[in-house]
Amino acid sequence: MSEQSSALKAAPQSGNASSGQSTGDDFVRIVDVVKRFGETVAVKGVNLSVRKGELFALLGSSGCGKSTLLRMLAGLESVTEGQILIDGEDLAKMPPYRRPVNMMFQSYALFPHMSVESNVAFGLKQEGVKGGELKDRVHDALQLVQMAQYAKRKPHQLSGGQQQRVALARSLVKRPKLLLLDEPMSALDKQIRQRTQIELVNILDQVGVTCIMVTHDQEEAMTMANRLAVMSEGQIVQLGTPHEVYEYPNSRFSAQFIGSTNLFDGNVVEDEPDHVFVESPELPVRLYVSHGITGPLGMPVTISVRPERIALTRKPPEGAFNWGRGKVTNIAYMGGYSLYHVTLESGKTVVANVTSLALGEIDSPTFGDEVYVRWSASAGVVLTS
Ligand SMILES: Nc1ncnc2c1ncn2[C@@H]1O[C@H](COP(=O)(O)OP(=O)(O)OP(=O)(O)O)[C@@H](O)[C@H]1O
Ligand SMILES: [Mg+2]
Repeated sequence: MSEQSSALKAAPQSGNASSGQSTGDDFVRIVDVVKRFGETVAVKGVNLSVRKGELFALLGSSGCGKSTLLRMLAGLESVTEGQILIDGEDLAKMPPYRRPVNMMFQSYALFPHMSVESNVAFGLKQEGVKGGELKDRVHDALQLVQMAQYAKRKPHQLSGGQQQRVALARSLVKRPKLLLLDEPMSALDKQIRQRTQIELVNILDQVGVTCIMVTHDQEEAMTMANRLAVMSEGQIVQLGTPHEVYEYPNSRFSAQFIGSTNLFDGNVVEDEPDHVFVESPELPVRLYVSHGITGPLGMPVTISVRPERIALTRKPPEGAFNWGRGKVTNIAYMGGYSLYHVTLESGKTVVANVTSLALGEIDSPTFGDEVYVRWSASAGVVLTS
């Protein structure tokens, strides 16, 4: 992870035990890896370690280098600089047939003219597996993804989710030690996608395979991965557990990329080890955050406050920090909760995630109503980049 961006002193650092450093049971080690395509630098010095049995997600916007990194791990693309070690061995020195890696591509095309079982058997046959062993392994792989009853069907006779499971069986049947999944769920609609995410985690757990998955869906990464890395422009900008990255983003980019958030720009007016005060033109009162930062007084910072940490009230809050007054300008009803957009007197719009229960208690404010937004000192995170 890039250390320069994390200015938190007291808040838990994302990283530590879960950072890119080696911990002994690392299965994959990516060391100072750079990838250039002519003028384009697709991957700019990535360091990353993935532990045995871990489900690791690479996350980032389009073109940030996710697929390129995965393709290098699969040995499909050479490394311009740096080194990739799998189980302690240099990938570049391993002949392709000895690489314990299987990759499922961004568009996982099944062979349309072949049955489900032939699709799954294809790679094994190429390796010379035959007869009873071939049959058993194909059956076991299909059983694992609960597709054994569809063995004789052709891909076009299956739903999107079923096809996806066949593609997964095709990857797992070769018993790779490292499974690389590039946007495995991109072809699925939201509902099947959510179900498949859970199934996939269970299957990977059963097999015990180490898996690196690329996605640009942050919810998917949050629900599935043990740890994740947020990438931007060829670099890892933050690395940690989903909880660490969500609760303690280390930059504006990370805070906005993982989940949505409210960002208040201001300047530090008091900095102590256990708290910091920030003045922002966007709020009538100071911001108070219950952790310190590293930096001089007056330093420009941004405070990130997640929508679910913001409470809506009708009455003016007591206390001289962390609140604003405004009018309701938009309400998005989401079922169990509503997203209230409150435009403050400064012109700043704050989004609050209000549960239906909480709404009842404040007599459901509507468009144009005057309300207050407020949050606690532990709700904010100070960002310096
Ligand atoms: N073979 C190639 N030749 C030249 N440039 C390439 C090549 N492959 C990738 N790139 C460039 O490298 C950068 C990273 O591409 P990559 O495919 O890794 O992005 P990505 O993060 O997977 O994006 P997406 O989410 O859209 O799949 C892009 O700018 C892309 O245009
Ligand atoms: Mg890609």
